[in-house]
Amino acid sequence: MTQIQWTRKDLLGLRDLSREEIELVLETAKSFRDISLRPVKKVPVLRGKTVANLFFEPSTRTRVSFELAEKRLSADTIHVASSMSSIVKGETLKDTARNIEALKVDVVVMRHGSSGAPHRLAHHLKASVINAGDGINEHPTQALLDMFTILEKKGKIEGLNVTFVGDILHSRVARSNIWGLTKLGANVTVCAPKTLLPARVGELGVRVTTDLCQAVKDADVINLLRIQLERQQESFFPSIREYATAYQINREILRDAKPDVLIMHPGPVNRGIEITSEIVESPASVILDQVTYGLAARMAVLFLVSGAAKKEKEAK
Ligand code: CP
Repeated sequence: MTQIQWTRKDLLGLRDLSREEIELVLETAKSFRDISLRPVKKVPVLRGKTVANLFFEPSTRTRVSFELAEKRLSADTIHVASSMSSIVKGETLKDTARNIEALKVDVVVMRHGSSGAPHRLAHHLKASVINAGDGINEHPTQALLDMFTILEKKGKIEGLNVTFVGDILHSRVARSNIWGLTKLGANVTVCAPKTLLPARVGELGVRVTTDLCQAVKDADVINLLRIQLERQQESFFPSIREYATAYQINREILRDAKPDVLIMHPGPVNRGIEITSEIVESPASVILDQVTYGLAARMAVLFLVSGAAKKEKEAK
């Protein structure tokens, strides 16, 4: 059981977090996990707090998950999308945020297409900032929910072989997972065509391979990443069909995998490219469990950064 207290105003990434801080979030997520199974799916821990959701890039899972997590914690919420905000009239991100803060918002959840945007916001605001995905940099709550899913399904993270296959170069999910999983003692492998591997990725303490068979063989968990065409200014492989031929997770490639391997994917899934529909729907797939556990992970993060956890401890 982790003994430390959460002291951070913001959650911007897992790069800066210690092993103990990550474990604290995961333990807190466990305490929130079963609220969604109750007849009344609500607790009053964020009553009186206001959360602003600023989503300046498309999102389904993360946006809905944060919104529901905030409601389950009884927070008041507001939502701002870039197309509906004064950013389209030339207002800067800083001014938009300061105007929102003038309304006495306690927590800002932000998704942005530019790496570092939530960090800039956190620097200017007294409110807590949670990074809901910034450019190709980090997606900390996705990695936390991925780790929580592994813990729920495998009972541990230390010593497990976790393989990421796909567009590592443009993946904030891979980056946050690499920071988090290596701190918790997992053996991480990244697998992609050479052109989709970041330079010096091996220096992050991961095994690097372009050979899918090798990456799959000893994996306890395979986490798939889609090809992020929206972030690619140039062509990184001859065609999608060629990519799928070499890097798709399908029945044939899983013949050499461990029988209890977990198949994960942060979504959105491009069926027939990085994974076949058959494997998405197979018993090995925990893709929808990830979505379910995401709620608990985000409730935990909201609870910790808002200071509600500290207040609850002091009241005891
Ligand atoms: N996993 C994830 O970030 O999905 P969305 O882009 O739909 O939020």
